[in-house]
Amino acid sequence: MSNIVSYEERIKSFSWDAAKAELGLKDGQPFNIGALCSDRICALGLGAKTALIWEGSEGKERRFSYDEIRVLSNTFAAGLRGMGIVPGDRVCLFMDKIPELYIGAIGILKLGAIAQPLFSAFMQDSLITRLADAETRAIFTTTRHVRKVRKILKDLPKLEKVIVLDAEGFQLGEREVAFSMDSAPRVESFEPFPAGPETPSLLHYTSGTTGKPKGAQHVHGSILSQYLTTKWVLDVQPDDIYWCTADPGWVTGTSYGIIGPWVTGSTQAVLDAGFSSSRWYEFIQKHRVTMWYSAPTAIRMLMKEGTELVRKFDLSCLRHLCSVGEPLNAEAVLWSKEAFGKPFYDTFWQTETGAIMIANYPGMEVKPGSMGKPFPGITATVLDLKERQPLSKPGTVGLIAFKPGWPSMFRTYWRNEATYKSKIVNGWYISGDRASIDEDGYFWFVGRDDDVINTAGHLVGPFEIESALLQHPAVAESAAVGKPDPVNMEVVKAFVALKPGFEGKENLDLEIMNFIRKKLSPLAMPQEIEFVKSLPKTRSGKIMRRMLRAKEWGEPIGDTSTLDDEG
Ligand code: PRX
Repeated sequence: MSNIVSYEERIKSFSWDAAKAELGLKDGQPFNIGALCSDRICALGLGAKTALIWEGSEGKERRFSYDEIRVLSNTFAAGLRGMGIVPGDRVCLFMDKIPELYIGAIGILKLGAIAQPLFSAFMQDSLITRLADAETRAIFTTTRHVRKVRKILKDLPKLEKVIVLDAEGFQLGEREVAFSMDSAPRVESFEPFPAGPETPSLLHYTSGTTGKPKGAQHVHGSILSQYLTTKWVLDVQPDDIYWCTADPGWVTGTSYGIIGPWVTGSTQAVLDAGFSSSRWYEFIQKHRVTMWYSAPTAIRMLMKEGTELVRKFDLSCLRHLCSVGEPLNAEAVLWSKEAFGKPFYDTFWQTETGAIMIANYPGMEVKPGSMGKPFPGITATVLDLKERQPLSKPGTVGLIAFKPGWPSMFRTYWRNEATYKSKIVNGWYISGDRASIDEDGYFWFVGRDDDVINTAGHLVGPFEIESALLQHPAVAESAAVGKPDPVNMEVVKAFVALKPGFEGKENLDLEIMNFIRKKLSPLAMPQEIEFVKSLPKTRSGKIMRRMLRAKEWGEPIGDTSTLDDEG
């Protein structure tokens, strides 16, 4: 049955209770995301249905039915309990997009522990920051990534268990234990932790302008938002083969790469391989993917290879396409229409919002270039930049803000309530993005309101990069900003003032780039380093990234009256 109902109809009769009723949730009675995504689907008689089609980089394929997801996630939950992990403990998932990542997350949730996924390309400094802050008790990883964890163990006294998923024939080290999803005795039944709407579920780290990355803490109640948005925006229907290209190290990969498809009982396909246009098309063709959730950078990468490549494949299976993470340029929408016969629908949300907030969706008139309208049940506005009050005049640029209270809103930043509170002003949650709203209520994205860099849809905090840069022996001071890039939208550029004696050192820029890649991740690595004598600062000594960024983008530099010296 189609999920399509007009936007106006949805708004008129909207209540989150509709989701509760469909999921069989009753006020005051416990529920659990892990169980709703597996046990419940089996109880509906869909145990034999394929939940996951997984394909690895070498072409190996595995399929899991809902009943297997149910039993294997029980096995994970019981395994963790056997290791002494209790509800509320943070359990990290640090691996490639292997089946254990998806099923393990469900197991952690069933136990009532907090799942903390981290992107597998993170290197040691990125890991330490996030594992130390969360006081993570256990980490699931594989032999491919365990070495990075070994290097930082001494800095992580709270990390008691390093659980290696493919340890057969592998020499285990300090604090390491083996757990194999495939060979552990299967646990047929496991009583899921009786969670409530406020019980912590997932912890996703995200970067801001200042300070270290912050852990957005989500709750089991988020399922209401994820369920309805998956149905109504992504339009996932029972017979769909759904492919979300995001890695569960990021929020899209959990909200819509684990929870969304499984709570709706659909079949999801996962490709654990690096990007390649032909491989992606082959994957869609082979598995008859019908619903595809991806990102503008990926679309631009596909565009580079043109429609000729598209024509070599039979992609007629595609029914609905959505995108998230960065502005979706009108060009990409037009190209996708030409290439796939379907436009990409833009959706806007954040790690903090837990689910789609503003979107174009079936049943609604789409204005290309606009992010669409707020999801039913979401009160969204733009606030004026100074007073932070809602702007009433259409077309005025302000800060995107949401009225708190939707089910999937983050409940705090982990051990950082002060920063959480600072994001709620005059009763609005301030997103950190700027937009305008037109006379028909459509939102038009303008840009970030802070210095966070969005590279290929991933947020990178300048502070984290600058802190790492300062650890290089040649660096006296630095500033990291986003510079325009035709494919990734932005890439990191670092301005660096050197310590005396390092000027003119050959290949120093490459050396520093590599230094950051090895410490943080390939995403955070500056693509360009510009050596400067000094950096522009305010009178109080704060580096003015805004000015450096404006230069890169060819924008007016703005008020420089607070500058001390020119960079
Ligand atoms: O700046 C906005 C941008 O990505 C940010 C959120 O990033 P993150 O928390 O990592 O979550 C990413 C995926 C949910 C936003 O504050 N962003 C996200 N979607 C869009 C977008 N920018 C423009 N258009 C979008 N559709």
